[in-house]
Parts: sequence; C-alpha cells; structure tokens
Amino acid sequence: MTETILVTGGTGTLGRAVVERLVDAGHDVRVLSRRPPGADEVRRHASVTGDLSTAAGVGDAVAGVTVIIHCATTNGRGDVEAAQNLIAAAQRGGQPHLIYISIVGVDEVPLRYYRAKLEVEELVAGSGLPWTVLRATQFHDLVTRVFAAQHFTPLVVVPAGISVQPIDVREVADRLTGLAGEPAAGRVPDIGGPQVRALTDLARAFLRANGRWPILMPLPLAGKVARAYRRGGHLTPERAVGTITYEQFLDENVTPGGRVGARARKRGKG
Ligand SMILES: NC(=O)c1ccc[n+]([C@@H]2O[C@H](COP(=O)([O-])OP(=O)(O)OC[C@H]3O[C@@H](n4cnc5c(N)ncnc54)[C@H](OP(=O)(O)O)[C@@H]3O)[C@@H](O)[C@H]2O)c1
Repeated sequence: MTETILVTGGTGTLGRAVVERLVDAGHDVRVLSRRPPGADEVRRHASVTGDLSTAAGVGDAVAGVTVIIHCATTNGRGDVEAAQNLIAAAQRGGQPHLIYISIVGVDEVPLRYYRAKLEVEELVAGSGLPWTVLRATQFHDLVTRVFAAQHFTPLVVVPAGISVQPIDVREVADRLTGLAGEPAAGRVPDIGGPQVRALTDLARAFLRANGRWPILMPLPLAGKVARAYRRGGHLTPERAVGTITYEQFLDENVTPGGRVGARARKRGKG
C-alpha cells in the first residue's frame, strides 16, 4: 500500500538512504529540512522547509502524512524539544504512525546524547500515536568520521579496550522502509552490524584502506561512560543481523590517499 511518508533528517547520512528506498518502494515521500532544496536539485520526493527546534513549518510537514520516520538529530542538544514539537504537530495532524531510530545501549551507556535519545523514546511511546522504535548500533560512517578526523596526524589515537559493532546505513534504511509498510510495533528487536570488532582493529583497516601504515596509539579512557563502552553496553552480538562488514564499506568508500565517501569511489576506483 502506498503511504504518504514524512522523513525528518531525510538529508542526513541515514535519512538519504531511507528516502531513496521509500521512493523505490512507490511511497509518496516528503523530506523536512532547515534548508530549502537547491533550485537545480533533481528530487524524487517533496521537500518541506522547517525547523524542529522552533516548530516552524512542522505543521505543514506532517499534514496528511500516514507515516513519519524520525531520523533528524541535533546530536543531543535539542533532540527532546525537536521530538516534542514533532509529536505535538503529529497529534494535531491525524494519527500518523511514528517510527523513531534510536541507538543500542541508550539505557546502558550514561552519555548525555544517549539520555536524550532515551527520553525521546519515552516521549514517542507516551505520545498516544501508533509508534515503533528501532535501535541500531553505530554506523560505518560514524566510525570512519572518527578516524578520518585524524587523517593528517602521524598516528591515530584510539580509545583502548573498546569494541564496536558497526552497521551499514543501507541495511538500517532497509529495515526502516520495511517498518513503514507495517502496522505500529512498539519497540522492535535491535539491529546490529555483522561483527563486534576492537576499535584498534577497525582503525588499522581504515589506515590500510588509505594506503597508510597503521601507527596507532591506544588511549585508556577514564570515567563511567568509557567503562560502559568497555563493558559493551552499546553492543548487541545476539542481533548481528547486518551483512556488510567494515572492510566492505571501506572498499566502497575509501581510496588510497584518503578520499572518503561515495565520491571517493567514483574518482578513486572508477
Ligand atoms: N550515526 C550513528 O552511528 C547512529 C547510530 C544509530 C542511530 N543513529 C540515529 O540515526 C539518526 C540519523 O543519524 P545521522 O548520522 O544520519 O544524522 P546526520 O547525518 O547528522 O543528519 C542529521 C539530520 O537531522 C536534521 N536536523 C538537524 N536539526 C534539525 C532541526 N532543528 N530541524 C529539522 N531537521 C534537523 C538535518 O537536516 P537539515 O540539516 O537538512 O535541516 C539532517 O538531515 C539519528 O537519530 C541518530 O541518533 C545514528
């Protein structure tokens, strides 16, 4: 059945992959963004300009939609207020199915951002709207951003003793697209990447993909957040349902010489 679907964060790393799949599945898709689309931008979806932190334009964005996939994030600063504004507009605009993407371990790792994500999960569950919450592990893109940020230093500093279970955003987008076509399901099983890997191991893979000698400096971190990460509060090995490994992601997205991202593939690997 064709749904009219609003994707918040549809211009972001995950959101772009979600929009592409929803359009391919034949849904009417609407993307909310703070920036109006470029005049020359070729789009296969409708765009609404608005800001979740002020609620400007959000009423128009949710008007008449049957499903909302809430991918937008301010990386903690305003996620709770943004969700409150979105939910208030959705409650006024019919009873759309609200789907929220969260992070594995938000109730285990005492990070300020995770506390905000958990609070939003509770707002969604208490909204009175039909709702679904999916928690995913860290994206390959995020892990790569951490390493790429140190691209010009002779050695790469990596938190010691911490593992991650990175997943490809395309697989998370596939799952969200599936959920958009199903009835509301509450909290659904987590989605995790195929492998639990030491950050040092992933850093070596990143440097090798860049054609660089993997000189690492493992740094032991103190504090309760680091302890929770070392305990694996953000991992879900029993839900290792992703199939695309970090090396496959690197192969598609990183070229020797350090170009990262899809463009790298076009330019670097033809
Ligand atoms: N990154 C990870 O490893 C990871 C893992 C699990 C779950 N998640 C969750 O997945 C979701 C997407 O993450 P991502 O990495 O794809 O994010 P991202 O690339 O940083 O994109 C953030 C998006 O949020 C939108 N946004 C930010 N503030 C807004 C506001 N005030 N009003 C309207 N839109 C706003 C931005 O749109 P404009 O700039 O166009 O306005 C942008 O599209 C987040 O909820 C995140 O918590 C992330």
